[in-house]
Amino acid sequence: MDFKKKILITGGAGFIGSHLVRLFVKKHPDYQIVNLDKLTYAGNLENLKDVEQAPNYKFVRADITDKAFIDELFQIEKFDAVIHLAAESHVDRSITSPMDFIMTNIVGTVNLLNAARHTWESFDGKLFFHVSTDEVYGSLGETGLFTEETPYDPRSPYSASKASSDHLVRAYFHTYGMPVMISNCSNNYGPYQFPEKLLPLMINNIKNNKPLPIYGDGKYTRDWLWVEDHAAAIELIFHEGQIGETYNIGGNNEWQNIDLVHKLCEIMDRLLGRSEGTSKQLITFVKDRPGHDLRYAIDASKLQNELNWSPTLQTEEGLEKTAKWYLDNEDWLERVTSGAYQDYYKEMYG
Ligand code: NAD
Ligand code: TYD
Repeated sequence: MDFKKKILITGGAGFIGSHLVRLFVKKHPDYQIVNLDKLTYAGNLENLKDVEQAPNYKFVRADITDKAFIDELFQIEKFDAVIHLAAESHVDRSITSPMDFIMTNIVGTVNLLNAARHTWESFDGKLFFHVSTDEVYGSLGETGLFTEETPYDPRSPYSASKASSDHLVRAYFHTYGMPVMISNCSNNYGPYQFPEKLLPLMINNIKNNKPLPIYGDGKYTRDWLWVEDHAAAIELIFHEGQIGETYNIGGNNEWQNIDLVHKLCEIMDRLLGRSEGTSKQLITFVKDRPGHDLRYAIDASKLQNELNWSPTLQTEEGLEKTAKWYLDNEDWLERVTSGAYQDYYKEMYG
């Protein structure tokens, strides 16, 4: 079959990537979607079981730091567009192993930019879409919001590596005229998130009656967005955004960590049939994260006004859906935490 476009999505076996791949494969049968992923601890092909047989979907296991492989893949596949999500994504890991973040998030991004630049004879109709985070803007005080004009001020090795990759993507736009777009999004939550991030970690620990570690005093604030709303925003910007532009994506939904965990505890008590207040007793205040950013909050009005996007799900509903999903998918949780999902890859792809 002749496809209208061939799109490379990197990091498609991860949390956000799997939702984005599913959206594109299902919504655009006339596009061929090539999912490239190294399958680190955070990437899991089981996340994509429902689309893996689709005629417009293909998986390639590869490491974006492998320049020779990436160059050859671009020459063979002749992609029309790239949506780049592959990354090391967890702040705590970036504090203990910064080099992994430098390699994948910076060097890997440059490999993709170079491969695209060298194989795209003309930039007409082409697009390099870079998926990034609001953490590049640094930390806010009690008030204020990040806009697309907020100067970059990253504080963790993770956010510094993402900031660096954003700068490089913009540099390829200004220097080579490469058609790029960047989106910077707030904290995502929902199904298929590896249980090292706040919400799935807490859900898993509540289920297993384990302590709920709250860093510092728990007064740190994040803006939370339902992951499918993020995927929908990327799909919209991909089709209707302006070349060279940046779009902030956020839920207009700020929570202090401690309040969010309290709300989750209430929901979990109800879902697990435990008496009210049971899960809250598991909360344990632990040593703070070094360089912990106080507050992130997004002004997403550009995306709302220019492209008519808005989030669809309220937190309470989203938290309940998320908690239910993890309780209904105990096998998934068990396999990702034990590394057994790697066996699934071997079974499927040899
Ligand atoms: P994730 O950790 O769940 O998934 C990352 C994926 O990238 C995994 O499938 C992993 O196997 C793959 N990967 C890692 N290193 C690779 C390499 N060297 N080569 C090929 N593949 C590799 O991350 P996520 O939460 O889904 O985040 C996806 C993207 O969105 C990242 O770029 C992240 O910075 C950005 N982002 C995340 C959030 C969030 O709240 N999670 C918010 C805003 C932006
Ligand atoms: P996280 O999910 O790691 O996302 P990010 O650091 O990218 O925002 O953490 C969200 C917030 O929750 C952050 O303020 C750190 C805090 N946190 C805890 O208090 N305890 C935990 O065990 C984790 C993982 C995070």
